[in-house]
Amino acid sequence: MKVTTASALVGALSLSATRVVAVALPDVDESFPYTGPAVPIGDWVDPTINGNGKGFPRLVEAPAVTPSSSTPSNNINVISLSYVPAGIHIHYQTPFGLGVAPSVSWGTSASSLSQTASGQSHTYDRTPPCSMVGVTQCSQFFHEVQITGLKADTTYFYKIPAANGTTASDVMSFTTARAAGNPTEFTVAVVNDMGYTNAQGTFTQMMKAVDEGAAFAWHGGDLSYADDWYSGILPCEDDWPVCYNGTSSEIPGPIPPSYDTPLPAGETANQGGPLGGDMSVLYESNWDLWQQWVLNITAKVPYMVQPGNHEAACSEFDGPGNILTAYLNNNETNSTAPESALTYFSCPPSQRNFTAYQERFRMPGSESGGVGNFWYSFDYGLAHFISLNGETDFAKSPEFPFVADLTGDETTPKENETYVTDSGPFGYINGSYKINKNYEQVQWLAKDLAAIDRNKTPWVIAMSHRPMYSSEVSSYQKNLQAAFEGLLLEFGVDAYFAGHIHWYERMFPLGTNGTIDTASIVNNNTYNTNPGVSMTHIVNGAAGNLESHSTLDSDEKQLNITAVLDQVHFGFGKLTVHNCSALTWQYIWGQDGTVGDELTLLKQFNGTCGSGSSGNGTTNGTATSPTPTGSSIPKTPIPFTGGASGMESASFLALAGSIAIAAYLL
Ligand SMILES: *[C@@H]1O[C@H](CO)[C@@H](O)[C@H](O)[C@H]1NC(C)=O
Ligand SMILES: *[C@@H]1O[C@H](CO)[C@@H](O)[C@H](O)[C@H]1NC(C)=O
Ligand SMILES: *[C@@H]1O[C@H](CO)[C@@H](O)[C@H](O)[C@H]1NC(C)=O
Ligand SMILES: *[C@@H]1O[C@H](CO)[C@@H](O)[C@H](O)[C@H]1NC(C)=O
Ligand SMILES: *[C@@H]1O[C@H](CO)[C@@H](O)[C@H](O)[C@H]1NC(C)=O
Ligand SMILES: *[C@@H]1O[C@H](CO)[C@@H](O)[C@H](O)[C@H]1NC(C)=O
Ligand SMILES: *[C@@H]1O[C@H](CO)[C@@H](O)[C@H](O)[C@H]1NC(C)=O
Ligand SMILES: *[C@@H]1O[C@H](CO)[C@@H](O)[C@H](O)[C@H]1NC(C)=O
Ligand SMILES: *[C@@H]1O[C@H](CO)[C@@H](O)[C@H](O)[C@H]1NC(C)=O
Ligand SMILES: *[C@@H]1O[C@H](CO)[C@@H](O)[C@H](O)[C@H]1NC(C)=O
Ligand SMILES: *[C@@H]1O[C@H](CO)[C@@H](O)[C@H](O)[C@H]1NC(C)=O
Ligand SMILES: *[C@@H]1O[C@H](CO)[C@@H](O)[C@H](O)[C@H]1NC(C)=O
Ligand SMILES: [Fe+2]
Repeated sequence: MKVTTASALVGALSLSATRVVAVALPDVDESFPYTGPAVPIGDWVDPTINGNGKGFPRLVEAPAVTPSSSTPSNNINVISLSYVPAGIHIHYQTPFGLGVAPSVSWGTSASSLSQTASGQSHTYDRTPPCSMVGVTQCSQFFHEVQITGLKADTTYFYKIPAANGTTASDVMSFTTARAAGNPTEFTVAVVNDMGYTNAQGTFTQMMKAVDEGAAFAWHGGDLSYADDWYSGILPCEDDWPVCYNGTSSEIPGPIPPSYDTPLPAGETANQGGPLGGDMSVLYESNWDLWQQWVLNITAKVPYMVQPGNHEAACSEFDGPGNILTAYLNNNETNSTAPESALTYFSCPPSQRNFTAYQERFRMPGSESGGVGNFWYSFDYGLAHFISLNGETDFAKSPEFPFVADLTGDETTPKENETYVTDSGPFGYINGSYKINKNYEQVQWLAKDLAAIDRNKTPWVIAMSHRPMYSSEVSSYQKNLQAAFEGLLLEFGVDAYFAGHIHWYERMFPLGTNGTIDTASIVNNNTYNTNPGVSMTHIVNGAAGNLESHSTLDSDEKQLNITAVLDQVHFGFGKLTVHNCSALTWQYIWGQDGTVGDELTLLKQFNGTCGSGSSGNGTTNGTATSPTPTGSSIPKTPIPFTGGASGMESASFLALAGSIAIAAYLL
C-alpha cells in the first residue's frame, strides 16, 4: 500500500477496466534472506496448515458473508468500517482477487441502493497463501471503497456485490460521524490490548455498548496478538504465562469443562478450545480469526485502530531454550539454540514491519495530514480524537528503524545488528533520528493541535498504545513523554489514553514529569481540566488476551500518581461526551458489565459551545477523492547520520535471550 499501488492501480484501471489486478507490494527490506520454514507453524505434533486433528485445533470464526454455496471459490470474509471526513470507508477482504474494481451500491434507504462507489484492491504475499487455507477463513486481497460527500449523522445503506465467486453481502448500514460542533451527547467504546483468548467478556460488553448506541470503537493497538502463534511450542515459565498449560491464562466467568479435556497424546498441555488451543498456531490465521471474531462490531460501526507492539512482526523475543531461533533461523523443529539470535530477517518477509497491520485496516491518515494507519485524527460532535503511534516514528521509539542499528560509518546494518521488531519509519525524519522534532509524526501533531477550533470541539482526547505514566514503571514511558507530553499539555489536551500494560489504572491529573495537579482534583471521581497545566492519564489495557493480566511484582507498589488500580477485571472504557462542560469515563467489566470505575471531567468552558457547527446536515470535513491507504506515505529518504550508537539494539538483543523481560514487552 504505497504510492506505487495507487499509480499502478490507477494505470491498470485506465488501461483496461475489465482486467483489474490487485498489486502485491513488499513492505520490507529483504537484503538478507529468510531461512526458516516456508510456513512457520506453532504445533510440533501437527505441522500441517489446516490441521489433521492430531494437534491443536485450527480455530475459525464465521465470515462476514455466509456463502451461498457449500463449496465457494471466493468469499467476503471481513468487513470493517472507518471514518473519513464527510463520509465512510468500507474495507473488505477476500481470499482471492475480484477481477473487477471493488465496489458497493448504496443509498439512503435499504430498498433503494441507486448509487455506486468503487475503489482499489491491494494484496501481499502472505504466509501461507490463501490457496492453501479454507476459503471462508482466509484473507489475502484487501478492498477499499470510500463514499464521501455524505451528510453528517445520517444512516446510509449499502451492499457489496458478488464478484469472481464471492456471494453478495446482505444490505447493511452505517451512520456517518456527527459534524464537529454538534452539541448532542455521544458515547464511544475505547479498548486496548484486546486479543482473542480471555476477551470474550469484554467483547460481549462492547457489543452491548454498540447495540445501545455507541458511535464507534477506538482500539489503541495490540489487536489480534497474531504474534503469539508460537505459544503452543514454548515451555511455560513462572513469569511468562504465554504457553498452553492451562494454569496461567484466565477467562472471565466460570471455566467451561472443555478446558479440562485431556489433550491428544504427544500434545503440550494447554487451555482454550475443547481440545486445547486458544490461539491459532499460524501468524496469518490469527489475524483472520481475530478479524472475523470482531465482525459484530467492525461491520456495524467504525472501528478505529492504532499500532501496538504486537502488530510489528512474527515475534518480539525468543522463549526458553531459544526455541524460536532454532526454528526460524536454523529451520530446526523442536530444538534449542545456544543464544537468542532473532533478527529482522528471522520472520517471513510478510510478517515484518507492521505489514499485516498496514494491509488489513484503512485509517484516515492521508485525509487528516497523518500517515496511513499510523497517525491520524478525526472529529465527532464536540470532540477531536487524535490517534498517535507509540511504537515507531519518534526518538527512542520502542520499535526503531534501521538507522538506529548502524555503527561506525555504515549505511545499512549487518544482519546481526538488526532486531526482529525493527520497523518504519513510516513518515520522514528530517535530520537526526535522535531528535523528536525532526519526525513527521511530531510535526504533524503540533499542526493538528494548532488547527483545532475549541469552540467546535472543546474536548480533545489523544491515545497511543503506550502509557506515559504507570505504577509499572518502564523506560519507554520517559521517551513517550519526551515525544508527546509537552505538545499535548501546551494545547490543552484533556485526556491521554493508552494500554500496553494489561491492567486498568487511572492516574490523578498530571503535569510534566508526573507532577500531581492536586488543585484539579474535585473528588475521587471528578477532576477539573486544567489546560496547559495537566491532563488525565488512563491505562486501559485489560481487555483480555492470551497474555492475561499484568500484576505488580512483589518489589513494586502502586505509585502516588495513581488513583485507581485494577489488576483483576477484564474490561474496556466507555467514554461519554455530555456537553461542552462535562464528559464521563467508565471502566466496564467484561464479566458482567459492572461499572468498575467512573470519572467525570469538568471543563470551565467560556466559548460559544458548538458554535462552529453549521447546524444539521453538513460536515466540516473536506471531501477527498478515495485514495488507498498510506498513499501519502512520504518517500523521503532517511538521512543516515552515521556514528549512531548501536546501544539500543545491542541491549535489546542481550536482553532478548532472557524470558524474564517478557513481562515488560506487553
Ligand atoms: C526446512 O526444513 C524442511 C524439512 O525439515 C525442508 O523441507 C525445507 O526445505 C527447509 N527449508 C529451508 C529454507 O532450508
Ligand atoms: C520435543 O522435544 C522434547 C525434548 O527434546 C521432547 O520431550 C518432546 O517429546 C518433543 N516433542 C515432539 C512433539 O516431538
Ligand atoms: C478469481 O478467483 C480465483 C479463485 O477462485 C483465483 O484463482 C483468481 O485469481 C481470481 N481472479 C482474479 C482476477 O483475481
Ligand atoms: C504451568 O505453568 C505454571 C507457570 O506458568 C506452573 O506454575 C505450572 O506448574 C505449570 N503446570 C503444568 C501442568 O505444567
Ligand atoms: C456475533 O453475533 C452473532 C449473532 O447475534 C452471534 O451468534 C455471535 O456469537 C456473535 N459473535 C461474537 C464473537 O460474539
Ligand atoms: C556480526 O556479523 C559480522 C559479519 O557480518 C561479523 O563480522 C560480526 O562478528 C558479527 N557480530 C556479532 C556480535 O556476532
Ligand atoms: C517499513 O516500511 C516502510 C514503508 O511502509 C519503509 O519505508 C521502511 O523502510 C520499512 N522498514 C523496514 C525496517 O523495513
Ligand atoms: C522527574 O521525577 C523523577 C521522580 O519521579 C525525578 O527523579 C526526576 O529528577 C524528575 N525530573 C525532572 C526533570 O524534574
Ligand atoms: C476516595 O478514595 C480513597 C482511596 O481509594 C478512599 O479511601 C476514600 O474513602 C474515598 N473517598 C470517598 C468519599 O469515596
Ligand atoms: C509522590 O511521590 C513522589 C516521589 O515518588 C514525591 O516526590 C511527591 O511529593 C509525592 N506527591 C504527593 C502529592 O504525595
Ligand atoms: C476563556 O477562553 C479564552 C480563549 O478562548 C482563554 O484565553 C481564557 O483564559 C479563558 N478564560 C477562562 C476564565 O477560562
Ligand atoms: C437539528 O435540527 C432539528 C430539527 O430540524 C433541531 O431540533 C435540532 O436542534 C438541530 N440540531 C442542531 C445541532 O442544530
Ligand atoms: Fe502492548
